[in-house]
Parts: sequence; C-alpha cells; structure tokens
Amino acid sequence: MEQANSHQGNLHQSVARPAVLITGASSGIGLALAMLYVEKGYMVFACGRNEQRLNAISGVVPLAFDINVKEQIQTAAQTLSDKLAASNAKLQLVILNAGSCEYIENPLRFDGALFERVIQTNVISMGYCLEHFLPLVAINGRVALMSSSATYLPFPKAEAYGASKAAVNYLASSLRLDLKAFGIGVSVICPGFVKTPLTDKNDFAMPMQITAEKAAITIFTELKKAKDEIHFPKRFTLLLKGLSCLPSALINKILAPKIS
Ligand SMILES: NC(=O)c1ccc[n+]([C@@H]2O[C@H](COP(=O)([O-])OP(=O)(O)OC[C@H]3O[C@@H](n4cnc5c(N)ncnc54)[C@H](OP(=O)(O)O)[C@@H]3O)[C@@H](O)[C@H]2O)c1
Repeated sequence: MEQANSHQGNLHQSVARPAVLITGASSGIGLALAMLYVEKGYMVFACGRNEQRLNAISGVVPLAFDINVKEQIQTAAQTLSDKLAASNAKLQLVILNAGSCEYIENPLRFDGALFERVIQTNVISMGYCLEHFLPLVAINGRVALMSSSATYLPFPKAEAYGASKAAVNYLASSLRLDLKAFGIGVSVICPGFVKTPLTDKNDFAMPMQITAEKAAITIFTELKKAKDEIHFPKRFTLLLKGLSCLPSALINKILAPKIS
C-alpha cells in the first residue's frame, strides 16, 4: 500500500504543468491570449516592456523585457528557465506576438529610420527571442510567430510593416522544415483587422474588424490543432488570398492611391 502511494506521488510529480510564453502580452491580442491561456490552466509567462500592465494581469508570471535589447532577452530566458524548473512546468508553446506598426507617409521622402525600427521590432528581435527561448521549448512543443494578413497583398504606406511581416512568413516556413526532425512545430499567425491600441491609431476603414478576445479564441483553437498557418477572419483573409491571384496590373489599379 505504502509502495502504491509513493508511486502515485511520483506520478503526480512527473506530470509537468504546460507553460506558454507570450510576447506583447501587455496589450491587445497578446493580452487576450494571456488571459485565455490562464483560463485554460496554463502557466503563462506574460512579456512586454510595461511592467505595471503585466503585473495587473491576473494569474500570469510577468516577465518584463524589451525585445529590442538582446541582453534583456537573455536575462529573461534565464529567469524563465529557473521558474520552469522550480514549478515543474514544461514550455509547450512560445508565441512571439510583440510587434509595432508604422506607415511610410510620404514615399518620396522614404523614412529609412522608420523602416529600420519596424524591421527591428517585428523581425530582428524574433531572431534573438528564438536564440534564447527555443532551447527551452519541450519536444512536441510549438513556436508561433505573429505575422499579418497584410502579407497577402501589397497595401499603400505598408512598405515597412508589410516587409517585416513577409519576412516573418518566410522565417516561419523555413524554421518549420528545420525543426520538424526535432518534434517542434511552427505556426504563423496572419490576422485581419483586430481592434487593439495598434489599430485604434488607423485613420482608414478596417473591414470585418474583430475583437482581440475573438482573435485569441481562434488562435488558441487553431494552435491546439497544430495548424501551420492560422488566418482569420476567414471571409476577409480568403478574399485577400483570392485577390492576390489577380494580375499585378489589376492589383495596382485597385489598390494604388489616387493623387487628387
Ligand atoms: N491588431 C491587428 O489588427 C493586427 C493584425 C495583424 C497582425 N497584428 C500583429 O499582432 C501583434 C500584436 O498587435 P496588437 O494589435 O495586439 O498591438 P498592441 O495592442 O499595440 O500590442 C503590441 C504589444 O507588443 C509589445 N511590444 C511592442 N514593442 C515591444 C518591445 N520593443 N519590447 C517588448 N514588447 C514590445 C507591447 O508591449 P509594451 O508596450 O508593454 O512593450 C504590446 O504588448 C503585432 O505583431 C501586430 O503586428 C495585429
């Protein structure tokens, strides 16, 4: 009997709690994802620069760092590793969601510094996050990279944002091939318009916009199904994919801004 009890105790100890790390969890889609994963019983490492906002999310482990500062990512990864070990948790999922959007307002005065900022935050930082977090992902785990449905078509003023997210798409497809043999899956997430502080700044129409909560439910459900490409809302993203098959002359005619 004693032996059976001690065996049960070992079994209980060996069942590691699933953990997820989410960058950009202090706001918008990342915040909605963090709250949903807490509700689903995950240990959630919620990342962002704004410590106050991270501390206010109920049930998460806040991990404040700037994705554009390599040393801060390295320190965060050490903290993550220690906390996983101390809590007998295994990192099943890393969602690299943090990002920014800035538009090129005047194409004739192309803003190189803006271009660099957006590429840095949306792409280069992902390289350093992968360098430090990937070794901590469990076998059969998954990495999800946040892209955008903006990559399906060219959009005016989106030279920097679109280029950064197109790079994320390629990064995801290539990484998926290389991680296959190691049992780690890679998903790319391409949302349409989602209502968040990022899109609240936009001064143009955003058709079929959905809430961050709805976006989070779709991402959670599709990641559970280990989908390679997650795109939504489907009516919007399928329309973009359909339009992308048109000849480029026609696409230019439809999408190029008219000079008045
Ligand atoms: N909303 C949409 O319609 C939409 C559509 C397609 C794709 N996306 C993508 O979805 C992701 C989330 O966007 P969102 O709409 O939820 O925007 P958001 O509400 O502005 O959230 C952006 C998040 O990224 C974090 N972040 C930005 N720069 C950072 C940095 N240098 N270091 C650490 N964290 C940083 C912010 O945290 P701190 O401020 O605390 O640092 C914040 O939590 C982005 O990659 C965006 O491109 C959004």
